[in-house]
Amino acid sequence: KPPKHISNEAVKTFSQKDTSDWDLLRASLSKFNNASLDIPLVINGKRFFYNEGGRESFQQTNPAKHSQVLANVTMATEKDVLSAIQASKQAKQNWLKLPFYDRAAVFLKAADLISTKYRYDMLAATMLGQGKNVFQAEIDCITELADFFRFNVKYASELYAQQPIESTPGVWNKAEYRPLEGFVYAVTPFNFTAIAGNLVGAPALMGNTVVWKPSQAACLSNYLLLTVLEEAGLPAGVINFIPGDAVQVTQKVLADREFGALHFTGSTSVFKQLYGAIQKGVATDVYRDYPRIVGETGGKNFHLVHASASMPHAVLSTLRGAFEFQGQKCSATSRLYIPQSKSTEFLQDLVGTVSTVNPVNTSASQINGGDLHGFFGPVIHEQSFDKLAKVIEDAKADSELEILYGGEVDKSSGWFITPTIIKTTNPLHKCMSTEFFGPILTVYEYPDEQFAEICTTIDETAAYGLTGSVFARDRDAILVADEKLKYSAGNFYINDKCTGAVVAQQWFGGARMSGTNDKAGSGNILTRFVSIRNVKETF
Ligand code: ALA
Repeated sequence: KPPKHISNEAVKTFSQKDTSDWDLLRASLSKFNNASLDIPLVINGKRFFYNEGGRESFQQTNPAKHSQVLANVTMATEKDVLSAIQASKQAKQNWLKLPFYDRAAVFLKAADLISTKYRYDMLAATMLGQGKNVFQAEIDCITELADFFRFNVKYASELYAQQPIESTPGVWNKAEYRPLEGFVYAVTPFNFTAIAGNLVGAPALMGNTVVWKPSQAACLSNYLLLTVLEEAGLPAGVINFIPGDAVQVTQKVLADREFGALHFTGSTSVFKQLYGAIQKGVATDVYRDYPRIVGETGGKNFHLVHASASMPHAVLSTLRGAFEFQGQKCSATSRLYIPQSKSTEFLQDLVGTVSTVNPVNTSASQINGGDLHGFFGPVIHEQSFDKLAKVIEDAKADSELEILYGGEVDKSSGWFITPTIIKTTNPLHKCMSTEFFGPILTVYEYPDEQFAEICTTIDETAAYGLTGSVFARDRDAILVADEKLKYSAGNFYINDKCTGAVVAQQWFGGARMSGTNDKAGSGNILTRFVSIRNVKETF
């Protein structure tokens, strides 16, 4: 039977009164602030470090203070990748034989450890490593992560309980939800510790074993998560943790005959490459099965404001959608369409509000244990900083663009970009179709009477289909947007920001170039990691 009473983990508010929460958090922050940890590979439950076996290492630094090394991370050699694949194959034999509830217990216990014993360490590792304030970390590595683990168990229980197959007298038919025959390759992103947890956790729960290549920019929190899973009872070899060079690791993994599935979140361009390489492998008979490909990539997510909307609500929602998490969410609001009749009022309010929220704190104290409430933090690394700085520089020289707010960059101590609002006179300008993955919002003012036409423009401009919102009180406008934007967003919001999907409440994912739309936080995704066998027995 499915477990009862599963509900979303409550977000801790960290109000000024919660002094014990603050004390515990500060203790965890100082622990990571005062030491550079050595992070090993974990293959078949064994640790392997960079000072042995010819392995190299890389440094994970604090994006708010790039001189601070948080961790020296061991890089997998080609031999290590092969060992991780081998360990996955071996561990599978016992893991898949375990009754489901023994597998589920690992993830339920891990969720409890995350929300209790390891809450403050998880928060600190995610805040320092991924440049988040305490609220952003809480929503990511505590509540969403625990929710993924718990709701996956609920959805899997329901799936296993289903036997919708008909039988007749003398015949018993049944569906058997086998794990995939091969191993799963999880390639996980820096921006959400929770996403990494789900990318490895969902397949493992269904009886698969996993080779995990974490993002180089999130190894501290990701390794901590692995240790929590181990403490919760994860057997050796079920999830093998191998940070390293993405191309080198991927080449070895995709060359293995028993590669069974890709579970990916990251950029569209990398996903396209992997998709192509896997298809090539299929065409040349590399694999025993057709590998499952489950991927979630980028977006050019929109807010469309109708003249009937509550403007203060739309302004605040846009501020949060575009600039919380430094815009480093695949769901972040990235393009805004406002009616000309309301534009002056809207933009004045938006710019006014952005300028009054805690500004970028270039001293980085917000991350390092000072003002932990700071709204804006750094972007993840130099590569991202340089890309965003170039977008801003190009915008300054473009006659079709006007920077309404922000446009300042500062890398003296951390990777800081001010929230930036750019207006364009051309709805087809590439700034309305290119994903920036940072705190840059582009705006177009449309003639009020062309609401239906602007829906068509939104639909046709970008290659993506991840998230989007319409703000309106006029029901007819909502219906027009709902109909015309049917495939423009896999997560469509009416009068709410296009970010912040909650596990089990807003199933998350998009189609088109945003991914395979298998919906994280739903039972749907679990079905991608089983291979059903139909059994008929006659009596
Ligand atoms: N699930 C996260 C959101 O919706 C990425 O913002």
